[in-house]
Amino acid sequence: MAFSRNQSLFFILTLVLAVLLVNWLQPKEIDMNVSQTRTIVVGGGLAGLSAAHTLIQHGAQVLLLDKKPSLGGNSMKASSGINGAGTEAQSSLGVSDTVEAFTADTTSSAGQLARPDLIHALTSNSAESLSWLSSNFSIDLSLVSLLGGHSVARTHRGRGPPPGFAITSALMKKLDTLPAAEVIKSAHVVRLLEANGRVTGVEYETNGETTSVQANAVIIATGGYAADYAPSGLLAKYRPDLLGLPTTNGDHATGDGHRLASSLHASLIDMDEIQVHPTGFVDPKDEGAKTKFLAAEALRGVGALLVDADGKRFVDEMERRDNVTKAMQEIIEQGKGPIRLLLNADAEKELKSHCDFYVSKGLMKRYENAADFAKDTGVPNAALIQTLAEHNKYASGELKDPFGKIHFHNGQFSPDGVLLASWVVPVVHYTMGGIHTDASARVLSAEGKPIPGLYAAGEVIGGVHGKNRLGGSSLLEAVVFGRLAGAAAAEAK
Ligand SMILES: Cc1cc2nc3c(=O)[nH]c(=O)nc-3n(C[C@H](O)[C@H](O)[C@H](O)COP(=O)(O)OP(=O)(O)OC[C@H]3O[C@@H](n4cnc5c(N)ncnc54)[C@H](O)[C@@H]3O)c2cc1C
Ligand SMILES: *[C@@H]1O[C@H](CO)[C@@H](O)[C@H](O)[C@H]1NC(C)=O
Ligand SMILES: *[C@@H]1O[C@H](CO)[C@@H](O)[C@H](O)[C@H]1NC(C)=O
Ligand SMILES: *[C@@H]1O[C@H](CO)[C@@H](O)[C@H](O)[C@H]1NC(C)=O
Repeated sequence: MAFSRNQSLFFILTLVLAVLLVNWLQPKEIDMNVSQTRTIVVGGGLAGLSAAHTLIQHGAQVLLLDKKPSLGGNSMKASSGINGAGTEAQSSLGVSDTVEAFTADTTSSAGQLARPDLIHALTSNSAESLSWLSSNFSIDLSLVSLLGGHSVARTHRGRGPPPGFAITSALMKKLDTLPAAEVIKSAHVVRLLEANGRVTGVEYETNGETTSVQANAVIIATGGYAADYAPSGLLAKYRPDLLGLPTTNGDHATGDGHRLASSLHASLIDMDEIQVHPTGFVDPKDEGAKTKFLAAEALRGVGALLVDADGKRFVDEMERRDNVTKAMQEIIEQGKGPIRLLLNADAEKELKSHCDFYVSKGLMKRYENAADFAKDTGVPNAALIQTLAEHNKYASGELKDPFGKIHFHNGQFSPDGVLLASWVVPVVHYTMGGIHTDASARVLSAEGKPIPGLYAAGEVIGGVHGKNRLGGSSLLEAVVFGRLAGAAAAEAK
């Protein structure tokens, strides 16, 4: 059958138009796919930032929402450091450490609530996560210290600003420069969107306006609930005995992510496991303040002593947080408070920027000698001098410490030397419980099945630390699980 000239022309024209149409449609299609593969990260602390960077490194687009006018959360406040086992810094300082040793310390601290899969994820990814931080964001993590409950020195920090600030602000700065990231601040996420059992986006409020956004996956990184003091809050629900204690946490730490996840039947675990940190600073100008500055565990790491109002020690200062807190609470109940934390000049030198900051805030006071301190506080001088003299003998190995202290650092105290002193009390600090995830940061339902499209990382997840978190393991949890969540969500279809 032959075509007429007109018919042929019409046919060719149609073909050209069809090709043009397909070409015109294609970029549109890609655009649509781009918005479909966008992942939402809720919360811009270290966990959310680690997740966002990892998503982008996997080629994804990110929308990061934070309810506060600035990012950073509690991560910005962290002052002791971040753990890693088998790191470059450790080997250049001659510290020999292994994933197995870190796992053993974490497992023993977690007690009967230890979850081997989550602990393994934390410890086996630790050295890699620290090198990710230092190589990708030029963060200095070259100093290493020993904190309570660790068998070796593995808590890393740098020479500059405190570690939480140094790490978190480096990730924030870099995110600002990446076109694949959109950040919206003062955006309070109030609801997870769901269709056919899959998480499809979030609803957030900003300036009283509600917006819905779609995504292929949502990562919850909203932090803990150690400041959730509301009568209907999570502290009241799970640990009403702690409502009377102050907190070290920012007022954002109200368990929002726990509620969001529960609304889709995610399971919450270990919710009554809350870490009370032994040492929050009492500000003499505002003794009753509900929010307190943390007296970093690094202070005890460089050799701080704890003494009661009689000038006597009552605990191995290098014990685990839960044990030190318990010993302090007994002293306070016996009416032997207030408890003071004492540093010598060697320790001050080692944590100079911390101490300068605390002194400038009026949280720590510098005395020329023990007698000045005793006069100012009413602690009996003779008893204090005896305590210091005894401690010197334990530190030099001449006598054995009755409280079992074996890790001494800057252990020699002279009654004629400088003393830095602070009034300290136990403070609500960290919530071990939270959203149940697997070792890939996928959120699990009550039946133990992953909820499609939903991931969680950082303090909002539960179970990594069991009954007691070791110092330095929470920044690590934020980076490790943030990266796992980012990698898993980038694969989400
Ligand atoms: C004073 C202090 C010192 C510490 N020192 C150390 C230390 O030295 N080493 C260590 O390992 N750990 C330390 N910790 C613990 C550690 O800092 C935190 O557990 C960790 O930083 C939590 O990180 P995150 O990203 O999960 O949460 P966060 O850093 O708290 O960030 C959560 C973010 O989510 C946002 N958010 C919450 N709800 C919503 C919502 N509904 N919508 C949108 N955004 C929301 C918040 O505004 C916040 O920015 C310390 C904690 C404190 C308080
Ligand atoms: C975009 O999505 C459509 C439909 O889901 C799919 O057929 C197409 O292959 C995708 N294109 C790209 C570039 O990923
Ligand atoms: C980022 O970190 C990873 C993992 O440590 C490393 O392989 C990679 O080279 C780093 N990238 C840059 C640009 O430093
Ligand atoms: C802390 O207390 C627990 C139980 O009360 C005990 O088993 C442990 O040895 C104590 N000390 C340390 C350093 O963990």
